[in-house]
Amino acid sequence: MELSENKQAIVERHNKVVYVDGDRIVKVFKATKPASDVFNEALNIARVTEAGVRVPRVLEVSQVADGAWALSTEYVAGVTMRSLMDAAEGTDEYDRLLEQFVDFQIEIQGTPAPELLKDQKTKIAGMVGKTPDLDPSVRYDLQMRTDRMAPGHSICHCDFNPSNVIVAEDGTLYACDWTHVTRGLPEADAAMTYILFKMYHPGHAEAYLDLFSKKADVAKQKVHYWVPVMAAAELSRGRKDAEEFLRSQVDVALDID
Ligand SMILES: Nc1ncnc2c1ncn2[C@@H]1O[C@H](COP(=O)(O)OP(=O)(O)O)[C@@H](O)[C@H]1O
Ligand SMILES: [Mg+2]
Repeated sequence: MELSENKQAIVERHNKVVYVDGDRIVKVFKATKPASDVFNEALNIARVTEAGVRVPRVLEVSQVADGAWALSTEYVAGVTMRSLMDAAEGTDEYDRLLEQFVDFQIEIQGTPAPELLKDQKTKIAGMVGKTPDLDPSVRYDLQMRTDRMAPGHSICHCDFNPSNVIVAEDGTLYACDWTHVTRGLPEADAAMTYILFKMYHPGHAEAYLDLFSKKADVAKQKVHYWVPVMAAAELSRGRKDAEEFLRSQVDVALDID
């Protein structure tokens, strides 16, 4: 695909640059990014779109001039929930936004999951198996939890955080960034969101969990149960920036000093 002269970079990360280019968003990955990962993200978007979730539609996967892979989706004019929350910090408006955010997550989880979405248990088990430098007793505990994971039928975004929710100009919410979606348990999805709040906005993590628990009618203990497992899975991605925090989440929940 070709990007126009008017493209604007909105996010730059170690493995990609995200551009707005007219009425589309283009994620241009580094040349080292395997094509299968990019097609997989596009396939995930197509599947959740077909399931009825409000997501920016996928338009194209192809190579850019230097051979790197790029994924384009429809651009949703609006702002991220993250920027609205940051601006509303300390006001009642923040609580209203958090409620909208939680309602949207529950709505997505309540959408019947396509059979072909990756199975959460299989994915998590593979990741926990690859997490480096885990104490053997901790690893055993995590594997036992994963082995007993019930089959879930919810769409679990698994990276559901306010920067992945776009609030369109008419107020409609859209979810982007579907790399990690699985078919699984809502409480495990919520555990990941809880970890992300604790990592980036710790002052709001408990309010998120309270609200999720009440609105989804899921005991907080069930969410806490998956925190060490989801933190270990995240560690397996080699998140160096967050390593210390994620290890603390693995250990604290298992009550290990
Ligand atoms: N379709 C879209 N419409 C508008 N903004 C988008 C869209 N997709 C992504 N964005 C913006 O780009 C940012 C990065 O995109 P995202 O898919 O979340 O990539 P990353 O994997 O780098 O987090 C989002 O946080 C959002 O601000
Ligand atoms: Mg994102």
